[in-house]
This record gives sequence, C-alpha cells and structure tokens, in this order.
Amino acid sequence: MNKDADFWNKASGKYSRMPISDIASYDHKLAKTREFFDEETIALEIGCGTGSTALLHAPYVKHYIATDFSSEMIRIANEKLQTSEAENVTFKTEKIEDLTVNEPIDVVLAMSVLHLVADLDETISRVNHWLKPKGIFITSTVCLGNGMKFFRLIAPIGRLFGFMPLLKIFTRSHLKERLEKNGFRVIYEWQPEKKRFASVFIIAEKT
Ligand SMILES: C[S@@+](CC[C@H](N)C(=O)[O-])C[C@H]1O[C@@H](n2cnc3c(N)ncnc32)[C@H](O)[C@@H]1O
Repeated sequence: MNKDADFWNKASGKYSRMPISDIASYDHKLAKTREFFDEETIALEIGCGTGSTALLHAPYVKHYIATDFSSEMIRIANEKLQTSEAENVTFKTEKIEDLTVNEPIDVVLAMSVLHLVADLDETISRVNHWLKPKGIFITSTVCLGNGMKFFRLIAPIGRLFGFMPLLKIFTRSHLKERLEKNGFRVIYEWQPEKKRFASVFIIAEKT
C-alpha cells in the first residue's frame, strides 16, 4: 500500500465530516470556476477527496471525472453519488502520477492538492498534456513558504511517523513561476483578504 494514500485513507472519515472552514471563500471559488464551464465542458478533478466539490459542479458541465489515490475517499464519494441526482460524474481511484486520460479535457481542477504532490513540475506538466489547447487549470494551494517555513522541518518527521501527509513547502511566487515554466499563463489569482496562510486560488490558461 502507498504510504501517502494510506494516510488519506485513514483520514477520510474525519475529512468527510469536517465542515468547510470559510464558506464565503469556498463559494467565491465555486462561482469563479463556473465561469469556465458550459454544457459541453469535460472537467477533470485530481485529488478530489470525498467528492463534495465534484457533485456541486456537476450540473454545470457535460462530464465531470474526479480522481483520488485514496480508495476510501473515492468509496465515500461514490456513496454520496448514490444519493445525489448527478448522472454525469465518474469517480476513480487513481494516483495523479499514474493517471491516463483518454479524452481531451477542457478544465482540470486541483483543489488543496498541489502542495501534496512529490513533483510539482511533473504534475503541472501532466495537467498541461491532458488539456485541450487554451484549456484551463484551476488550483487552490497552501503556500506555506510565505511565512511558515518551519514546516520544512516538521513535515518530513510528521510523515515518517504517519501523522502528516507528504507536504511540500513553497511560496505563491514559486507556484506561479512553475505554472508559467510548464506552459500556463496565470489569468486570475486570489486569496481571502487578511488571511495570509489561506490557500492561494489560481486560474491558469494553457499557452
Ligand atoms: C487536502 S485533500 C483535498 C480534497 C479535496 N480536493 C478538497 O478540496 O476537499 C487532498 C486530497 O488529495 C489526495 N491526493 C494527495 N496526493 C495525491 C496523489 N499523488 N494522487 C492522487 N490523489 C492525491 C488525497 O488523497 C486527498 O484526498
């Protein structure tokens, strides 16, 4: 079993019961994302967790594919799907690094995920390959390099002892630079006011 997927498998029950900490910010991100959706949109979400965002977005697109390497997260997502009205959502247990995409994608979403992948450049480059020309990459990312650098010390120890996931510490400008180096143009960026450590929401277009 993949150690990192195992961390998220164990966290899944608690994660699914956790309330959204900042509803106004969450709603802002949902609304902004939907500006890039229409009835023909094929959307792909990586690291979808228990699928709440996927199910909320589903009515605005043609097909919504949502993936996560935690089989427990996907099990809970499929349970939610059973009781929802959505008929255009597919949940799949897939690791980002192994994911094969068979159809060109209009919009890729990575919400609270990019700080959790081992190789940021590789992930962004994979997303770029999955997208159609001018496709859209929507991300919300914890950038702990902007003030919480001590996590660089804590994170590897926490991961070793199993109480923290794989966690990468980088700044907002590093993230933007990596997006631009891997074939994207940042077209929108936002962070809630006065919340320095809140996730950075970025929308980028494939160049
Ligand atoms: C912080 S949660 C975010 C879940 C969801 N996107 C949300 O916003 O609530 C991070 C999710 O990413 C998944 N994840 C982390 N690394 C991954 C990888 N390499 N491949 C696939 N999923 C991954 C975890 O299993 C977890 O469900």
